Amino acid sequence: MQPPIIVTRRWPAVVERILAERFDTTLNAGDIPLTPTQLKAAFLNFDAILPTVSDKLPASVFPDEDVRTKLIANFGVGFSHIDLEASRQRGIVVTNTPGVLTDCTADIAMSLLLSVARRTGEGERQLRGGEWAGWCPTHMIGTRLSGKTLGIIGMGRIGKAAAKRAHFGFDMKIIFFNRSQVDDDQVRAMEASQLPTIEDVLTQSDFVSLHCPGGAENRHLIDAKRIGEMKRGGFLINTARGDVVDQDALIDALENRTIAGAGLDVFAEEPFVPERLMRMENVVLLPHLGSATEETRVAMGMKAVENLTAFFEGRPAPDKVA
Ligand code: DGY
Repeated sequence: MQPPIIVTRRWPAVVERILAERFDTTLNAGDIPLTPTQLKAAFLNFDAILPTVSDKLPASVFPDEDVRTKLIANFGVGFSHIDLEASRQRGIVVTNTPGVLTDCTADIAMSLLLSVARRTGEGERQLRGGEWAGWCPTHMIGTRLSGKTLGIIGMGRIGKAAAKRAHFGFDMKIIFFNRSQVDDDQVRAMEASQLPTIEDVLTQSDFVSLHCPGGAENRHLIDAKRIGEMKRGGFLINTARGDVVDQDALIDALENRTIAGAGLDVFAEEPFVPERLMRMENVVLLPHLGSATEETRVAMGMKAVENLTAFFEGRPAPDKVA
């Protein structure tokens, strides 16, 4: 008998087909997010739950009685929406999808960086609004990337991929903060310098790009005080998780022009985006597009398939995080 599994959102069709062949699969044809009550019920009825970042799985949705679920195969590399302690207590294995979204997420970080520095969102809005009065030497002047310093917070796979693009593609100097020492060929090739504190990176960077995990440990890692350490003309790029930044403090800093701008792909309470951010021209706002390419979304799905297949064949799941 095939293990019953539930997929909480629509996945790429090719992956849904493979899941349906290998497992007794319940799909979400309407793509309507499950309620906490439905998620709770899923733990009693399915051997595996396949959630994603839009599903919140705090301890309160894990039932107290004996759960049927043995595996949570997350569609995504970030798993701060899942309470790992609650999973561990119930003996549930959790997996993610690392590696396959590195390049596309780094591309979105670069896209935000370029867009906010060169004011392309603002320019397009002006043009489409029929307000462009023609070329002139003082029109919509932005900031050059070449020769500037990019500070990376979190020099993991995605941080390195963003740094590589910025250094080799845009001639930027790379400095970074990472909790553990990073000294490998990639970092040496970019002549990137690891600095001892986040403050060191913030004070010396023209652009700061966040690439650390979300969750309790990094909640408001970039708070009002740290935003205050950034250069006055500095830009903050966030493709990591919304809760890594104190969003209200960031909005204050943007309104007061304490920093020059921000490029955001993630928000504190997605999909809610505060009106104050929407009103600002010096921010570029994207709807969490980091991994949103055909190639990457299929690869993420296939990673989950590999994890499920290994787990239910009694082999170690390759991407076990808990
Ligand atoms: C992830 O995988 O964590 C992404 O944020 C989802 O695209």
